[in-house]
Amino acid sequence: MAVEFNFLTKSINNASGSTLVLFASTTGKDKKLAVQLKGLTKDSLSVLSDLASDSPFKGNLNDSLFLRGTSAVQGFKNVALVGIGDLKKADHEIIRRASAVALKTLKAHGVTEATVAFESISLAGKDKDSKIAAIFDGFYLADYSSDLFKSKKEDKKLSVSALFGLASSAKSAQKIHKDSLALCESINFSRSLGDTPGNKMNPVKLAEAAKKAAEGTGLKVTVWDDARIKKEKMGCFHSVSLGGGVEPRLIIMEYKGGGSKKPICYVGKGLTFDSGGICIKPGAGMDEMKFDMCGGANVIGTMLAIAKLKLKVNVIGIVPASENMPGPMANKPGDIVTARNGKTVEVINTDAEGRLILSDALVYASEQEPQFIVDAATLTGAMVIALGDTHTGFFSRDDKLTQKIKKAASSAGELVWEMPMHEEHAKDMKGAYADLQNVTARKGAGSAHGAVFLAEFVDSKIPWAHFDIAGTAWNTGHRIPYNNAKGASGCMIRTFVELAKQHV
Ligand code: BES
Ligand code: ZN
Ligand code: ZN
Repeated sequence: MAVEFNFLTKSINNASGSTLVLFASTTGKDKKLAVQLKGLTKDSLSVLSDLASDSPFKGNLNDSLFLRGTSAVQGFKNVALVGIGDLKKADHEIIRRASAVALKTLKAHGVTEATVAFESISLAGKDKDSKIAAIFDGFYLADYSSDLFKSKKEDKKLSVSALFGLASSAKSAQKIHKDSLALCESINFSRSLGDTPGNKMNPVKLAEAAKKAAEGTGLKVTVWDDARIKKEKMGCFHSVSLGGGVEPRLIIMEYKGGGSKKPICYVGKGLTFDSGGICIKPGAGMDEMKFDMCGGANVIGTMLAIAKLKLKVNVIGIVPASENMPGPMANKPGDIVTARNGKTVEVINTDAEGRLILSDALVYASEQEPQFIVDAATLTGAMVIALGDTHTGFFSRDDKLTQKIKKAASSAGELVWEMPMHEEHAKDMKGAYADLQNVTARKGAGSAHGAVFLAEFVDSKIPWAHFDIAGTAWNTGHRIPYNNAKGASGCMIRTFVELAKQHV
């Protein structure tokens, strides 16, 4: 990562440096621009608001104003004003976004050394720590660049001094910073897995990458190969891999930080490329199917983050990894395959492969007798139609887990939406020749049909939720400033980590 933080305890009157970053709001008198920072002189404030009033910058979120060569604040050559909108409404997610805008503004102006006045954001109240964390998160998450495969990489470093007026605040911010870095590094790693195309990322490589990333974290990684997957009677999962040129892998990551507590299981769809198989997809947009392993990548990221944060929980991450290709041994429409729990499935559509690889992984997860299971999968195009790219839809029959998820997502600053799953949908998935069929002829509710299919493989006594991240796994434009316009988002890692934190 190119951003590096160090900590500085000084009043703004005594601080100096190249570029000063100040968060500015619209809550001043007459909705004028306001900068709240103890120690900032009246002169500075009036020069800043005069300069700003000559510009379109009004302190709104997503806006910034870079003042080069200004004498507005003594000791600094430049000042970057970064908008947070209405100060009263500036929760941690707004701050995360504003901080991302700060990083982008600094980068755009070629800044290599900056001082961020953390206290120019109101850091009062019980969510003080999450607001401080959000500033670090915004910088680190926005720093991820998709130049993995560009011959020329962005190699500039940015050294940031986190300025606090009080030594005690700077000290507690250091611990918060460490945790933010652990989380964001894990998210950025997941994003890099997602962004890697199918010729450079396959099940074998995904397993190797997970193993390598886990080194030194205390995570135990076990990888099952083709023969083991077959021997373990994971017939649905195995069948999907047959059309590809690369063997499947089952990646099992375990972290034990919670003594004798029951584990939490995270399961992720690791389809390294989904061509649709024999029911091949149309060419336009097919490149996006390199992202079909984002559920798996985000489970790997969740596991890395939990281990690095040393949370006092036991967690198991399970990622079935496969290609879905139309090779000569590929599943054919009408084929009947058998899952690890003995249920038989008629593969009506080979493009509904995610539910096949997840079915066996969910049976395996249930066998671990966890407190609960959550899975993440780019499962259905229907989810994109239903919720677009703002909310991740989740399905659960367990009210307690549903409440926990809503709380976790809100603490994480990620948008989720509870989706319905009903017996009527389950009826549609009954097979004519086998116990189940992997798709239904009935139109509509495609995501719910995917969810109820998965439910057939989860022990009904275990609370479980399915997250369909088809619309949120990768970015489709500049919606969130800490996400690139294009590329894997790392969505739900923050929510999944928050879920684990609820059980420490
Ligand atoms: N990976 C796709 C789902 C997908 C589509 C994710 C578009 C993101 C964007 C999945 O394997 C798939 O192809 N699902 C089919 C299911 C259908 C055949 C019932 C779909 O959604 O079209
Ligand atoms: Zn598919
Ligand atoms: Zn798929």
